[in-house]
Amino acid sequence: MKRIVILISGRGSNMQAIVQTAKKEHWSAEIVAVISNRSDAAGLEYAASMGIPTSVVISKNFPTREAFDAVLQTEIDRYSPDLVVLAGFMRILSAGFVEHYTNRMMNIHPSLLPSFVGVKTHKQALDAGVKVHGVTVHFVTPELDHGPIIDQLAVRILSTDDEESLSQRLLIQEHIVYPRAVRWFVEGKLKVNGNRVDVDADLTN
Ligand code: GAR
Repeated sequence: MKRIVILISGRGSNMQAIVQTAKKEHWSAEIVAVISNRSDAAGLEYAASMGIPTSVVISKNFPTREAFDAVLQTEIDRYSPDLVVLAGFMRILSAGFVEHYTNRMMNIHPSLLPSFVGVKTHKQALDAGVKVHGVTVHFVTPELDHGPIIDQLAVRILSTDDEESLSQRLLIQEHIVYPRAVRWFVEGKLKVNGNRVDVDADLTN
């Protein structure tokens, strides 16, 4: 049984998708905690309603990034996770924290990396005039929005799109790609090879 801790900062729809898919597909994994850096994160309520332990480490109460990350790490490690899943966790993480979870911390980023790192990725894509946009799931490394890519899904950008319509269409893809990547981890199907991840799975499935 793999132990998964999910970190959120807000709505938590990707966390919900993972919790629901794990249940539906009977993964041999347990979501052992959902942790937020904001006490008003809406996703906390859903996690609690599913009987998942929740906790909050309020980032704005800490004087430095390192001080927050140290307490967060202690809180995460209380649950002895095999995998830490960042699901809309809107914090830049210090190198020491990230290295503690090398190849066992995943993130979802709403762009086709390596394009459009950082925030406002839908606006970045629209401003750049690209015709496809997408979502990336990757292992986390100290450099922001880099790290070995596990999977990506793309959507076509329409001439009628604005940030809202694009983010809504992409979110549907996020809820497909993230649970599947986490399942691959649980099933031991991911092998990190330098900056590449080999997936021992039928990618049409
Ligand atoms: C998602 O779109 C996710 O890709 C993005 O935040 C949203 C969280 O939604 N993550 C990032 O921008 C990370 N840099 P959710 O709380 O409903 O899962």
